[in-house]
Amino acid sequence: MGNLSRAVYRIRQFSDALHATVDSDETGLVRSVLTETEQDLFFRMPLADQRHSLDVFYSLVSRGHMERPLLKAALLHDVGKTANHRSIGVITRSLAVLANALSPRLTSLLSSSKESSWRYGFFLHRTHERRSAEMLQRAGTDEATITLVENHEHGAGSPLAKLLRQADEAN
Ligand SMILES: [Fe+2]
Ligand SMILES: [Fe+2]
Repeated sequence: MGNLSRAVYRIRQFSDALHATVDSDETGLVRSVLTETEQDLFFRMPLADQRHSLDVFYSLVSRGHMERPLLKAALLHDVGKTANHRSIGVITRSLAVLANALSPRLTSLLSSSKESSWRYGFFLHRTHERRSAEMLQRAGTDEATITLVENHEHGAGSPLAKLLRQADEAN
């Protein structure tokens, strides 16, 4: 899939995610895999991101991947997209994906680290890999999980990192 068609595919998924739900069995599942502090980070995400993370988790499990850091990273990789009860709106999210497909420089030009700015969502999108890793560091998450989260957009490094990126892109 080319950069642009992948972007369009992702944007379509965002509009589906407007009706996202997470049921009580899934809440139980999250509680059984994550520590309490990690659960707080998970449940602070908007439902659409919780749904996406669970779907990445299921993708991996359905292919027989049961490595604990991989499954934890599936649930936690995008926690950095949420900051102080603010997250990235669907429109900004779609524009960020599109801008990134056209030129990653465009996303950095669009982003502002000022929380009050309408461009803050672009900043969160652009920096969420690093932010997720830092939040997990503070939550006391194990290093193996953090390393996977830190590289999830590019899938650099281990075979597990590649698996996570593939599952992320497919969901
Ligand atoms: Fe991500
Ligand atoms: Fe993701």
